[in-house]
Amino acid sequence: MAVERVQSAIARARAQRAGLETVYEIDEDLPMAEDEEDFIEPLPPEDWNALPKSGMTARILDRARIVTAGLAEHSSAFDMMRTKVLQRMKTEGWKRIAITSPDKSCGKSMVAMNLAFSLSRQVELRTILVEADLRQPSLAKAMRLSPQGGFAEVLRREVPFPKSLVRVRENLAVLANRDRSPASAELLHSDSVPGVLKEIERAYRPDMMIFDLPPLMLADDTLAFLGNVDCALLVTSAEHTTTAQVEACVREISDRTALVGVVLNKYRSAGAASGY
Ligand SMILES: Nc1ncnc2c1ncn2[C@@H]1O[C@H](COP(=O)(O)OP(=O)(O)OP(=O)(O)O)[C@@H](O)[C@H]1O
Ligand SMILES: [Mg+2]
Repeated sequence: MAVERVQSAIARARAQRAGLETVYEIDEDLPMAEDEEDFIEPLPPEDWNALPKSGMTARILDRARIVTAGLAEHSSAFDMMRTKVLQRMKTEGWKRIAITSPDKSCGKSMVAMNLAFSLSRQVELRTILVEADLRQPSLAKAMRLSPQGGFAEVLRREVPFPKSLVRVRENLAVLANRDRSPASAELLHSDSVPGVLKEIERAYRPDMMIFDLPPLMLADDTLAFLGNVDCALLVTSAEHTTTAQVEACVREISDRTALVGVVLNKYRSAGAASGY
């Protein structure tokens, strides 16, 4: 305080010596503008329970290779991954996680679905799984969902998100895509993405949003989207992914968001995802 006064007096004396008659002093306690968020009209919360439901039969789960709907032989690797990722995200206050891989068919969608179902076994948590792979969408087909619109239509503001989300469990909803979308990178890069994600979060207050993304090295869709998430998980295929690919992806991801883990999928047997 005393130091500031002295500095102010010196500054005034200097300015007066320099011939400036009037010295304007501006208080240091100027009120700061509130966060942008505080100016946004609060939306009424959407009714989570009003979202359309789609039941998952044992057959659908099996065919989609979802092993985490209940405690099962292969669920433990995913449950461990869920617990570690969740701990880190809670500690950091993160809510959005991206799932990507270097190349196609490494198991991103399978990991995203299993992580989502594993989380859904924690009844106090609410999760939304969003398919941000607009090029090769697979979640609606895998889980036999028929949404009125997909993430692409929601981003284009063609279908509102309450009509596009489908609840597959009490505490788990999915925003999948019905078809492939042209110009997917432009759409994922567009200004509407941050707004739409905020609106969904404000409406349903999910504890976690999981984004199933396209492969990192095949197009710039994923790079365009990584700025919207808090962290990412890199899925690799034990048989196909090279060390050079992993290194390149780790660099690309780390430049944009926090990498919370690398999944070594299809490790040894083709029957289980393992390694984390
Ligand atoms: N650990 C695994 N064991 C057996 N099959 C698996 C395993 N992981 C993935 N698969 C199967 O491999 C195929 C590709 O998996 P998935 O669709 O999850 O990959 P992806 O990375 O999402 O592919 P894309 O790049 O096309 O989006 C699917 O048929 C999936 O069921
Ligand atoms: Mg996929």
